[in-house]
Amino acid sequence: MKGRDVLGIADLSSEEIRDLLQLAAELKNGTRAPVCNKILGLLFYKASTRTRVSFTSAMYQLGGQVIDLNPNVTQVGRGEPISDTARVLDRYIDILAVRTFKQEDLEEFARYTEIPIINALSDLEHPCQILADLLTIQECFGSVTGTTATFLGDGNNVAHSFMLGGALMGMKIRVATPKGYLPDPAIVEKANQLAVNGAEIMITDDPIEAVKGSQVLYTDVWASMGQEDLAESRIPIFQPYQVNEELLGHADSEAIVLHCLPAHRGEEITEAVIEGKQSRVWDEAENRMHAQKALLVSLLGIES
Ligand code: CP
Ligand code: NVA
Repeated sequence: MKGRDVLGIADLSSEEIRDLLQLAAELKNGTRAPVCNKILGLLFYKASTRTRVSFTSAMYQLGGQVIDLNPNVTQVGRGEPISDTARVLDRYIDILAVRTFKQEDLEEFARYTEIPIINALSDLEHPCQILADLLTIQECFGSVTGTTATFLGDGNNVAHSFMLGGALMGMKIRVATPKGYLPDPAIVEKANQLAVNGAEIMITDDPIEAVKGSQVLYTDVWASMGQEDLAESRIPIFQPYQVNEELLGHADSEAIVLHCLPAHRGEEITEAVIEGKQSRVWDEAENRMHAQKALLVSLLGIES
């Protein structure tokens, strides 16, 4: 994987995801402790707690350095073209994680650099999140392959990467969204094309049907970053998809609950569920660091 870009979860093969999850588990339990002397750049056009801090901690734990390239204090935020910024950063740093709106911006960074570009969230995908989710599911059920997982909420970035990652890992993925908030049909088609090892993709607007027998209930905010003005009007539309105790009661009795965070209690998830015994959201958040450390080790080609 050395030198590769990861702009979407499907830039990784099923085998590479499996290897990353194995490496992440070994990094987590300390059986592997690779070190490096590399520099990670973080260029985030949107707010972030988990992605920013977990990447920074992961890099520091590897012995590397991190440069925060906040667009508010770099020229790219004042209109310097991505093509120029990318070619310059390419000469200074070893790997770059970008959080942005348009997937095309990530593609442009990748086009103008030799170093690996990582998608740290775009409007289309959130691949790093999904690696952590898969690691969490693997820890809970022993394997991700064959598990049934339901995403409830808006059919955008997190849902997209979850569908694609699940398809690559042989999961039965159900996505329940209100009509009008469906995942991108091109991503659904891609997920169906990538499906291996018994993977299935189901898209529905029926949340109860979607969670029946499901081992994982996964949700995300109803209004993503950049959609703050739509938040209020979306509440009644998304209400039937709230992950609450009643909905959880329709899932498998051993089901776990995931949320990429940040959470809005009382909207997409209730206080009782996020703080309840089936919630694994804090392990999931921790796993961001282990999964991304595995990604950094692999993309930088660090011997471990
Ligand atoms: N889940 C996630 O990406 O969180 P942040 O926005 O805090 O990075
Ligand atoms: N869908 C959310 C995910 C946040 C981690 C957003 O894009 O804001």
